[in-house]
Amino acid sequence: MKNKVITNERREFLKKAGIFIGVGLTATSVSSLLTSCEKNQYIVMPPPVTYNLKLADYPGLATIGSTVNVKFTYNKFDYNLLITKLDATKYSVLDPICTHAGCQVGPVSGKDELVCPCHHVAFSTIDGKVIKDPIAGTWTPKPLTSYTSTFDAGNNILKLNI
Ligand code: FES
Repeated sequence: MKNKVITNERREFLKKAGIFIGVGLTATSVSSLLTSCEKNQYIVMPPPVTYNLKLADYPGLATIGSTVNVKFTYNKFDYNLLITKLDATKYSVLDPICTHAGCQVGPVSGKDELVCPCHHVAFSTIDGKVIKDPIAGTWTPKPLTSYTSTFDAGNNILKLNI
């Protein structure tokens, strides 16, 4: 009988000790996880490169005023760009990530603007500047990131400096 009482006390002790250790380990794990997140937060940006885009692969860019979302991988980095044909030899090259909160902007048919689906800010397809700002006063408007490009007519290549 005495053994049974000791066993129950022991069981209760182990139960409490288990809860105590479990809470301690959880607190330690969360703490170390947060610490490791703080230490390792970084984004790997691709180095600047010149990429030769074969325009024959993008028939959507044949018409002046047309905008195409171009995605490709180069040197193990993924690129996503909005390219608009401005005239026979000039193109705009813009990062489609909205400078407000990171949604992806897209072209509007028949207009020289790229609109963000999240809060409807509109950017110019020509230079990425903010042209409509329905959330004015809540943020500091910034243009889309733009890149320079050079058209090589002989080879029908657009050299992207990204
Ligand atoms: S994320 Fe684009 S307007 Fe807000």
